[in-house]
Amino acid sequence: MRDTAPAPHADHREQNAARLLRASARHSFDPLTEIDWDAPIDPDHFALPQHRVTLYGTPLWETLTPRQQARLSVHQLASATAAGIWFELVLMEGLIRHVYEGDLTTRHAQYALTEVADECRHSTMFARYIAATGYPSARPSAKAHRRGKLHFLLNDTAITFAGAIFVEEFTDAMQREMVRDESLQPLARAVARIHVVEEARHIGYAKPELERIWARMGPARRAVFRRGLLVLARLAVAELVHPRVYALSGLDVRAAERAAAANEHWRLARVDWARKALAFFTDLGVVDHRTAPHWRRAGLLD
Ligand SMILES: [Fe+2]
Ligand SMILES: [Fe+2]
Repeated sequence: MRDTAPAPHADHREQNAARLLRASARHSFDPLTEIDWDAPIDPDHFALPQHRVTLYGTPLWETLTPRQQARLSVHQLASATAAGIWFELVLMEGLIRHVYEGDLTTRHAQYALTEVADECRHSTMFARYIAATGYPSARPSAKAHRRGKLHFLLNDTAITFAGAIFVEEFTDAMQREMVRDESLQPLARAVARIHVVEEARHIGYAKPELERIWARMGPARRAVFRRGLLVLARLAVAELVHPRVYALSGLDVRAAERAAAANEHWRLARVDWARKALAFFTDLGVVDHRTAPHWRRAGLLD
């Protein structure tokens, strides 16, 4: 018999982690062998649904041939994929630190390492995708690179999990659209399919963890946290479209960025992809009446 009963939340935390470990054992993929990396890429295939390309519906869009439009969608997805690698590396670092503070005999810590293993495979898969499309780099922008290092210094677990929820829900929504659309590039869809399956577990790990941390936060800490998450979300979304996406298509980068910023289709894409994360943060009280206008101005909330 145990002489000290664990707190009820610890039981729940362990049960959740045990469930996630079982799901990981059943449904994990090795993208290096699951995906046919040598299949030729059809230059006329879009990688994203047309109406999710930043310039869709603008006068600039009309200046491009259908093949150039398809190429732009591939570059946009490659750029978003590079942003995914950047975020996964930051997340993995945060998870390793989380394990370092914990005890690896718990299922909770064991699952954190399992998630790191997933993300290792994802980042390698993403890099392979980027290289396969001919997009020139998997590196983030200089700004994101610096902010990532800042996160290494701050090591804020709450921001790690909240950032994971935002980025993973956002990416999940985008990739589910790709999986459903059979007209899209098969390689992009194969990558999305593996990612969607494995990321559902990550979201199921991060949400209750953030709920626990949030419940223990005082009002001052919450106020700082609300702002911090907004900064991170804006940065992550800005990172989706690197300026080289437009340069590679022979477009004037400034003109293209202005057109995208003013494009209602692109605003709607971001709102749709952010919807589930924002609903969760609103229910929890992380997004409140004071910060909601900032999320709206960022084009992430209706
Ligand atoms: Fe991932
Ligand atoms: Fe993940």
